[in-house]
Amino acid sequence: MEFNEAYDIVKAKLPEKRFAHVMGVVETSRMLAKKYGADIKKAELAAIFHDYSKYDNINEMRQLIVENELPKDLLEYDTQIWHSFVGAFLVKRDLGIEDEEILNAIKFHTTGQVGMGLLEQIIFVADYIEPGRTFPSCVKCRQIAETSLVAAVLYEFENVFEFLLSEGKKIYPIALEAYEEFKKKYLGELTSER
Ligand SMILES: [Fe+2]
Ligand SMILES: [Fe+2]
Repeated sequence: MEFNEAYDIVKAKLPEKRFAHVMGVVETSRMLAKKYGADIKKAELAAIFHDYSKYDNINEMRQLIVENELPKDLLEYDTQIWHSFVGAFLVKRDLGIEDEEILNAIKFHTTGQVGMGLLEQIIFVADYIEPGRTFPSCVKCRQIAETSLVAAVLYEFENVFEFLLSEGKKIYPIALEAYEEFKKKYLGELTSER
């Protein structure tokens, strides 16, 4: 699918404010893809579709999770993480997006996963640091992403976990596993720089 077609689909589906966020993620993903050597066209498509299901009806999402090959344990966690998995499922089923890298970048943009590929990391970070994000932790993460994508992913995990715990929410297990992996990756990056 060409970007323009995806743009029209998402613009028609999302409220204006969310669409502005999505375009911020598109812009940031392009920048990160250039910087870290990812496929720019894939980054644009993953970014434009990453919040495709953000405002889908909760009951309909629950039903999709129950009836399809989507992780059932999602139902035990905050509904905020459902849209990533459901979004990836729907852009494949309804829009014919087949590229696994794009689908995984959408699917894991909220939780991450162990073995995140470059495109997954880019969308994960771009979602947090796009220009519309003004929290101090987002601004700091934007600075970090200028020199290390791995460090930015790690920093984002730490801050998102802190936020979730302060809200009394449970952390989805694959996010914790991914975080542990990124701690090791980051240490590896530090030692290889010396
Ligand atoms: Fe999202
Ligand atoms: Fe988002």
